[in-house]
Amino acid sequence: MAPVRNGIIRDLRRQLFDKILHLHLGYFSEERKGDLMSRITADVQEVEWSILNVLEAIFREPLIVIGSLITMLFLSPSLTFFVFILMIFTAIVIGGIGRTLRKSSHQVQEKLGTLVSIIEETLGGLRIIKGFNAESYQDKKFNKENNEYRRILTKVLWRRDLASPLSEFMGIGVVAVLLWYGSRQVFSGELQAATFLTFIYVFYNVIQPAKQFTRALYNVQKGVAAMFRVEKILDAKNNIQEIPNALSIQHFEHEIEYRNVTFGYKPEEGNVLEDINLRIQKGKAIALVGASGAGKSTLVDLLPRFYDVQLGGIFIDGVNIKHYKLHDLRSLMGIVSQEAILFNDTIYNNIVFGLENVKEEDVIRAAKIANAHDFIIATENGYQTNIGDRGNKLSGGQRQRLTIARAILKNPPILILDEATSALDSESEKLVQEALLELMKNRTSIVIAHRLSTIQHADEIIVMRDGKILERGNHRELLKKEGEYQKLVELQAF
Ligand SMILES: Nc1ncnc2c1ncn2[C@@H]1O[C@H](COP(=O)(O)OP(=O)(O)OP(=O)(O)O)[C@@H](O)[C@H]1O
Ligand SMILES: [Mg+2]
Repeated sequence: MAPVRNGIIRDLRRQLFDKILHLHLGYFSEERKGDLMSRITADVQEVEWSILNVLEAIFREPLIVIGSLITMLFLSPSLTFFVFILMIFTAIVIGGIGRTLRKSSHQVQEKLGTLVSIIEETLGGLRIIKGFNAESYQDKKFNKENNEYRRILTKVLWRRDLASPLSEFMGIGVVAVLLWYGSRQVFSGELQAATFLTFIYVFYNVIQPAKQFTRALYNVQKGVAAMFRVEKILDAKNNIQEIPNALSIQHFEHEIEYRNVTFGYKPEEGNVLEDINLRIQKGKAIALVGASGAGKSTLVDLLPRFYDVQLGGIFIDGVNIKHYKLHDLRSLMGIVSQEAILFNDTIYNNIVFGLENVKEEDVIRAAKIANAHDFIIATENGYQTNIGDRGNKLSGGQRQRLTIARAILKNPPILILDEATSALDSESEKLVQEALLELMKNRTSIVIAHRLSTIQHADEIIVMRDGKILERGNHRELLKKEGEYQKLVELQAF
């Protein structure tokens, strides 16, 4: 049975992982990471146990059970019928308990999810927890949930273990009633004593498997509760869908256009972007500036369809991006995001990330352009050095340069830089900036920057505030306007 059971569980886990990879980003804003992790591990495990139990119950002694039932029917149909009624009665009682078991079992799994969430957050935030002396705060939070988990789990197990004495009792009850009913038939001469004794002997063979079956039934209820949580992920609707017969796009030819784009993460909570109109010609660099929270990152996140616009549309070469294949669309873009996202792997693999058939000299060239080569070869194993979880063995600026190298290696026609140089010191910023300017030369780029010195040469500068475009034009024009941009520049000049 082991291969069957493990095969089912492997497929389930693979489906879950696949689903998580493809679900839209918005889904994860509403879920706790730890809870999702708990579903993929603990809940799947629970399902495994219940499958194991069912398989055992079904395959254990099927021939004996079926043979016994046929023999019973042959010996005395009326007694068999009577036994059958008794069995149904028992099943209803036991089934009722099973249902409550399912509900509280669901609570147990939810609690476990919360626990894993706290652990996951604690591991990620240890530095801050220590820095703020928040160990006892976190400890209290964990202990409270841990204790709650213990309480509910005990309740569930208590209820499940109650099943055993109960089914024992029911079993004996059934036999007692059967003896009473059967002996009456024997004394009244309807049934021969020998037949009755044989009947009881045969019936005895059914009781043991039946008891096992009820125990399995209880465990199945726990499995069903876990499966329910797993299915909630599997059934989640992916909001970013590719339309059937989506168009393929290999090259970016003319322009990107934002047409009357309105967007909110949660429409009922108001819009983050309002009626944005923007045209970006091929080969041009545009810069987005504006206060924190103005919606700059949101604006660029719409282009690779991390989120879909609510009103209006985004067009590449005149075609709505919703009509393109997602994979093709995203192939056009290289993204350096606001926070450096790296994986626990070697430097080399982090730069190559996701690309195939990459030559080593190309990786080194990309690292050189990103001004990262020197610090990389100074590490212990050079390009083969492991950088730790999320790259925590590197400095902030080093992490950022790796993400830039990653984008450079991908060599995309459209470049999105969200605060790509914010974590660098002035000197390396200047170096990386030069590299980026070089990189942007034959490309279309959208650059977000707080340090205005870095975007002076952009073809168009868009000044945003509260999700709207306030001013637009190049550096000189905007200065002449003496508006918001000029104010920002003045604030930064010293
Ligand atoms: N995933 C999200 N879910 C809900 N609201 C969000 C989400 N991300 C951002 N927001 C909200 O959208 C608004 C714009 O955020 P955005 O990240 O685009 O700002 P920004 O201009 O990039 O700011 P910064 O310069 O600080 O990076 C903010 O008010 C923020 O609260
Ligand atoms: Mg941002």
